[in-house]
Amino acid sequence: MAEIGNKNESFEAKDFGWMVAMSVLFFALVVVGFWFEFSTDWGSYQREFPQLLSHYGKVEDARDFRVGIKQIWIPKIGVTDRCITCHLGYEWSSVLPATIAEPLKPHTMNDWLAKHEFERFGCTPCHGGDGSATTLAGAHQGGKGWEDPMLSRALAERNGLTMNEMMQMRCNFCHRRDAATPGMDEINLAKQLIVKKKCLICHTVEGRGGNTGPELTYEGDKNPELLSFAHVTGERTMFNWNVQHLTQASVVSLNTQMPDFNMKPEESRALTLLLLSWRRLPYPPEYIPDPEMAAAAMQPSPSPASSATPAPAATPIAR
Ligand code: HEC
Ligand code: HEC
Ligand code: HEC
Ligand code: HEC
Repeated sequence: MAEIGNKNESFEAKDFGWMVAMSVLFFALVVVGFWFEFSTDWGSYQREFPQLLSHYGKVEDARDFRVGIKQIWIPKIGVTDRCITCHLGYEWSSVLPATIAEPLKPHTMNDWLAKHEFERFGCTPCHGGDGSATTLAGAHQGGKGWEDPMLSRALAERNGLTMNEMMQMRCNFCHRRDAATPGMDEINLAKQLIVKKKCLICHTVEGRGGNTGPELTYEGDKNPELLSFAHVTGERTMFNWNVQHLTQASVVSLNTQMPDFNMKPEESRALTLLLLSWRRLPYPPEYIPDPEMAAAAMQPSPSPASSATPAPAATPIAR
């Protein structure tokens, strides 16, 4: 009897132990749940998003929505973009109105943006920023050692540009070989200026040009610490150095052989964007668009008559 009683007692002790363990676990889960909701930068957006979806009639999608970190992962171009953990509405432009506030607002769409499917391009190839971060400050301001900051409106404004204009620097990472590309007015202007101002008399770009000045093929990779800022006003950035150097080279580099081009501010800013776009980059060939397609897209209306006067072919000079 005593033995059985002992056994019963030990069963009870075991059950009690289990109960304690389960309560602790349950409590821990509640704490983790609260932690996700309130300590992350993205919890509140993920609570709001399914409500928005069902408000606009997508009840099933709202029900299927799962809270958690979301990402676009494209190893071949080094993209791990978690921007969509907050920017949840990005591919819902057919359902959600454009009046919704960031970050739930659907992405702007047009003919050429549609050529860059989000699952194939991610976000950072065009916007910069630290794709792997899930905090606002980390994603927007971060970037690998400030080399690739997100091209925000504020950053663009500090450099006298709109966000759209500044982003064209990144567009040209891939569109370098186009003579001109729709949606890239600044870069298109800069490619004309390279030819018009005869920069290649003194500079080599991709194997062509002179040797009076340094080679510019990968000018965008240049370390600003190698430049002298003694005669540059404002922030010590490659951007500022180049804008001022292109306006008055003799002020920035005393005794330089480079002429003072006295360019208009919009011209020197556009050329600077082009120079900074010339980098060594990880994009495989399938990410480099065909220059012929850009040339065709630059034609306003593809009628049989227009084929008699084809768009200027991609001139190597204008790269
Ligand atoms: C933690 C949430 C969060 C993450 C992660 C995040 N964003 Fe944002 N984003 C926001 C919010 C909130 C706004 C609107 C307020 C603001 O601009 O700070 C915004 C605004 C923006 C804007 C408009 C900028 C401007 O200057 O007006 C862009 C562009 C943008 N985000 C791109 C990105 C990209 C690219 C990433 C990934 C590298 C990213 N975001 C990651 C929350 C986020
Ligand atoms: C092919 C290039 C490209 C890709 C890829 C891209 N964007 Fe954009 N994005 C743009 C352009 C261009 C604009 C418009 C800039 C302007 O307002 O002038 C823009 C605007 C934005 C804005 C500001 C919207 C507004 O109108 O205020 C946000 C936020 C944003 N993008 C987030 C993202 C996120 C998140 C991703 C990834 C899912 C992404 N983008 C992928 C080119 C791109
Ligand atoms: C007559 C020759 C000449 C012409 C034409 C010329 N440059 Fe230069 N450039 C130089 C010389 C010499 C230097 C080196 C001294 C200096 O920094 O000014 C230089 C330096 C530069 C640098 C800094 C490069 C570095 O890595 O240090 C850039 C960028 C540049 N030039 C761009 C241009 C552009 C763009 C044009 C056409 C609008 C142009 N140059 C036309 C001679 C020239
Ligand atoms: C990571 C590389 C990459 C970036 C960054 C990029 N593009 Fe593209 N773009 C492409 C590729 C590849 C295509 C061809 C897509 C297809 O049709 O298969 C393309 C197509 C286009 C087209 C259609 C005409 C053509 O050349 O095929 C336009 C216009 C265009 N891009 C403009 C832009 C603009 C503007 C930006 C910056 C906001 C940008 N692109 C950023 C790779 C890129």
